[in-house]
Parts: sequence; structure tokens; C-alpha cells
Amino acid sequence: MIRGVIFDLDGVLVSTDELHYQAWKRLANELGIMDFGRKDNERQRGVSRMASLEIVLEKGTKKYTDEEKRALAEKKNDYYKKSLQSLSPEDVLPGAKEALEMLRERGVLTAVGSASKNAPEILERIELMPLLDKISCGLDITRSKPDPEVFLVAAEKLGLAPEDCLVVEDSAAGIQAARNGGMKTLAVGPLSGQLGGDFEARNLSSVENWDEIL
Ligand code: BG6
Ligand code: MG
Repeated sequence: MIRGVIFDLDGVLVSTDELHYQAWKRLANELGIMDFGRKDNERQRGVSRMASLEIVLEKGTKKYTDEEKRALAEKKNDYYKKSLQSLSPEDVLPGAKEALEMLRERGVLTAVGSASKNAPEILERIELMPLLDKISCGLDITRSKPDPEVFLVAAEKLGLAPEDCLVVEDSAAGIQAARNGGMKTLAVGPLSGQLGGDFEARNLSSVENWDEIL
């Protein structure tokens, strides 16, 4: 029986996946990489900031030192953080708030399990903090998805065994991470049909039967 649901953040609860894409595209173009596109961005879903940078840099020919790479990742994060300034509850994805409310009503615990170090700021801005029992994010972990660490930390914070948790994800790395952690999975988002989750839905408002999942 599912006693806790762990939600990825970017692209699952909030539309910040698009803001990540715009910030990386801006950086890529500044580096002379003009053909960075949405297909490349699909692979950035769920993976860490530095791993996302590598996906940009592999499209170009120039080699960068570790120090230069850190500066580039910081530059992207500055662009991204600027775009977060206008983030509001209107950017919560369809059905996300309703799903959190429904779970609370049923007595199912809720958490965020996100690779992002910006997760606390985002959750404050979109005002979902009161509907979440625990947060596990990029600030809590050293290994990124597909390593299960971020979800195992979330389960532990909830006081639940991994097998009693469902993970909701929009990324291949995230579905793999949940599976590696021994959790059930619900795939959502534009790639939901190709992620191989135990369950799938275009978004949280189109989940047909929560009873079947829980
Ligand atoms: C994930 C995103 O949620 O967070 C990735 O899907 C991103 O694209 C990662 O790279 C890290 O985010 P941040 O905000 O710490 O750079
Ligand atoms: Mg995501």
C-alpha cells in the first residue's frame, strides 16, 4: 500500500522545466552553440546542474577547465534565478495542487524529491509548502539521479520504507532513480509515454484512477 508520494519538482509540480530550458539555451547561444534545442533539453530533465552543462558543451568543440565549467554553470543559474523572480502560484502545473490536497485528505504523506538546489525558493514562490510534509532536494544529496539518493532521503524524512512510496517523475533519470530505490513510479509530462513508469498520465489532472495507483 502506498503511504507516501514523492513528487519531482521541475516539470511535475511547476513549469520551471521551461525556464531551465530557456536559461540553458541562452548560455549555449552565448558560447556559439546555436543548435541547442528541446531534444537536447529532454536529456537535461532530472539530472544535476553540472551534468546538464555537459549536455550543452558536448554540442560544441571548445574544451573548458573545471573552473570555467563552474563559472558557466553559475552563469546559467543566474539567468535561471532571474526568471524565477516572476514565478507565482499560476505556474503550478494542472492538477498538482489538487493531487496534493487529495492525498492529504486520504492521509497519504507527501514530499518533494528534486535534484534542484533552488527547490526551497521555488516552493515558497508557488505557495505549495503548506501541502508538503517533507522536502528532499539538491541541497541534501551528493549523488544525482539516476542514483536513488534524493528519493531515499525523502522516504527516510517521511519515516517510510521505499516500497511504501510512489514517485512522480517527468524524466528518464528520475524514473530510473525511483526504480533503483525500490519505489513505484508514475510518469507524467511530455515524455510520459516513453519513460516506462508503472503508471503514466500526461499530467496530474489527467490521472484517471488514483485508487488503482494508491
Ligand atoms: C532538476 C531539473 O529538477 O534540477 C534539471 O530537471 C536541473 O534540469 C536540476 O539541472 C538541478 O537544478 P538547479 O536548480 O539546482 O540548477
Ligand atoms: Mg523534473
